[in-house]
Amino acid sequence: MFLGVQAVLRRNAVPGPAALARFVSHCGYSTASNSQRLAGKVAVITGAARGIGKATAAEFVRNGAKVILTDIQDDLGRAVAAQLGPDAAYARCDVTDEAQVAAAVDLAVARHGRLDIMHNHAGVTGRMVLDSVGSLDLADFDRTMATNARSAVAGIKHAARVMVPRRSGCIICTASTAGVLGGIIAPTYGISKAAVIGAVRAFAGELGRHGVRVNAISPHGIATQFGLGGLAQLFPEASEEELRRMVETGMNEMGGGTVLEVEDIARAAVYLASDEAKYVNGHNLVVDGGCTVWKGANKPAPAQ
Ligand SMILES: NC(=O)c1ccc[n+]([C@@H]2O[C@H](COP(=O)([O-])OP(=O)(O)OC[C@H]3O[C@@H](n4cnc5c(N)ncnc54)[C@H](O)[C@@H]3O)[C@@H](O)[C@H]2O)c1
Repeated sequence: MFLGVQAVLRRNAVPGPAALARFVSHCGYSTASNSQRLAGKVAVITGAARGIGKATAAEFVRNGAKVILTDIQDDLGRAVAAQLGPDAAYARCDVTDEAQVAAAVDLAVARHGRLDIMHNHAGVTGRMVLDSVGSLDLADFDRTMATNARSAVAGIKHAARVMVPRRSGCIICTASTAGVLGGIIAPTYGISKAAVIGAVRAFAGELGRHGVRVNAISPHGIATQFGLGGLAQLFPEASEEELRRMVETGMNEMGGGTVLEVEDIARAAVYLASDEAKYVNGHNLVVDGGCTVWKGANKPAPAQ
């Protein structure tokens, strides 16, 4: 590989993008998003009618998977599946109902003979406005936990039911930077996403011994309807453009104009779902520009 780099550098004193692309392809790597990294695999994605889930479904199909998109927004979900073509189909699945999660798994097996990838992705923000722990609304807490955390456990349980006998499969659960660090957004949401990461860690050992991997992805803020809607609860007067700026500029951790987009999370999911990640188990893949690994310590200047 080192000789290859030297050859490229000799031919092009300053290698341009085309030369680098040729080199990457020469080495057997591909940067293309349609490189069939999931060829022949069967996937179920919850919460796939819009946002990150929709982008993930598209990326999975582009990479050769057959995908069952599920959601509670039936018209939207059907339309997205139709756009994605014959390798995509839609089925209703309210993830707060274990029987519907089980049925989505069974549908994949009935239609395609197996389930290779279970992506427990659906989620809600819950109530964002909170003055103090004393104003915590436990009914909202229960609803948010049911949609974000209990659903992931149900998805792991029922995916494992069909994957373990085949000694093969990959489960991905969408968590959040809010599950890694306190204070990113409201406590209830953060607790629900910390529970998702906890579930991945709790089941990874048992499932790994049966050839099934379970991992989490923790995105940072993205200006989807979810991200904008969450902020709109806190800033009801703000316009959509202002809310978008808060996410894309205010919450941005990266310089150089790099903004976190739904496709970045979709590609992280493709990696975890692919055989390239065959030994990655129990991991929480944060996609956050470094947000959760760095905090400046308070360093008050010494008294004069
Ligand atoms: N956007 C962000 O800033 C961000 C950051 C970190 C994590 N996440 C997580 O990513 C996931 C999706 O986020 P998004 O930004 O794409 O949101 P989104 O609101 O655009 O999409 C979420 C989808 O989940 C569906 N859904 C909601 N409740 C459901 C239920 N009970 N059963 C089935 N489907 C249901 C919705 O109908 C919607 O289609 C969530 O788990 C969220 O917590 C988002």
